[in-house]
Amino acid sequence: MSAEPLEIHLEEQDLGRSLRDDVRTGLTADAKWLPPKWFYDARGSELFEEITRLAEYYPTRAERAVLAERAGTIAELTGAKTLIELGSGSSEKTRLLLDAFTRRGGLGTFVPLDVSVSALRQSTAEIAADYPGLRVRGIVGDFTHQLDRLPTGGRRLVVFLGGTIGNLLPAERSAFLAAMRDALEAGDWLLIGTDLVKDPAVVVPAYDDAAGVTAEFNRNVLRVINRELDADFDPAAFTHVARWDAEREWVEMRLRAQRPMRVRVGALDLTVTFAEGEELRTEVSAKFRREGIAGELAAAGFAAHHFWTDPDALFGVTLARAE
Ligand code: SAH
Ligand code: TRP
Repeated sequence: MSAEPLEIHLEEQDLGRSLRDDVRTGLTADAKWLPPKWFYDARGSELFEEITRLAEYYPTRAERAVLAERAGTIAELTGAKTLIELGSGSSEKTRLLLDAFTRRGGLGTFVPLDVSVSALRQSTAEIAADYPGLRVRGIVGDFTHQLDRLPTGGRRLVVFLGGTIGNLLPAERSAFLAAMRDALEAGDWLLIGTDLVKDPAVVVPAYDDAAGVTAEFNRNVLRVINRELDADFDPAAFTHVARWDAEREWVEMRLRAQRPMRVRVGALDLTVTFAEGEELRTEVSAKFRREGIAGELAAAGFAAHHFWTDPDALFGVTLARAE
């Protein structure tokens, strides 16, 4: 079966409006910040794929190891008819689940959802070609706003991989899990990948690689704003910073102004000034502990049934059921 045209839950105008709102809010705050979903234009999605292949970036390999070992069990336990993937990107690791469901039988539909149209277009075409008989229905959408429009009917398994839940701030995270529970029926399943707390000497290089790919990815958000909002950021004048916050147990990605700057954002009729050394926060990537994840899931109405890690216990995958 071929992929159907993408279902659009997020129109260009909505995207434009929310980018404008986010940029105005973030760049006029005392401590400047931007939400992470704006990294992922076509170039950003490609750079992220490059990150997943870096020697320093262990999460993708570790999560893939867990899925390779447990995919059969996940297919068996959930018996899902519909597999929904949030922030699906290339869906590369998800193929391990699709393979297991193909062997087991019973999975009818795969629904990847992402804000990145380019990533979604490519992944839906490739998966539809490689899994004949599977209905592939890509959704362009925002998982922080549009969970109420997920497909219904038949047992569902929602997967949220890559540790992307760690890119939400704590309040966003609890709102996300509550909305997720609302969107599901009791008995539906959630499979969620979380990077685990470990020695910062291992974590930090994953977000500050020697080749500078992560730095390019981080600066890409400035290129997106330049293009979409007629701004004049000089990305080369910002240094990539990745810092471990021991209290919050997250890595914070920042862009530090190398000199004083005045940036014009034409579409907002806004001028923003940066002092030399001033930092703009672009992303947090929280690291988790087993009990913490189970507790947050329970608070949202999910019961954690299984928690698996790779052999080195770098990354955790939790299978939870909506109660
Ligand atoms: N799941 C893949 C990709 C992780 S990168 C993996 O594990 O490798 C994060 C993905 O989430 C990107 O594809 C990005 O476009 C998407 N994304 C980020 N914020 C989003 C949001 N608010 N709504 C929908 N997708 C989002
Ligand atoms: N979900 C990924 C993570 O937290 C996203 C990511 C990887 C990322 N590297 C990054 C986000 C660098 C911003 C900057 O690991």
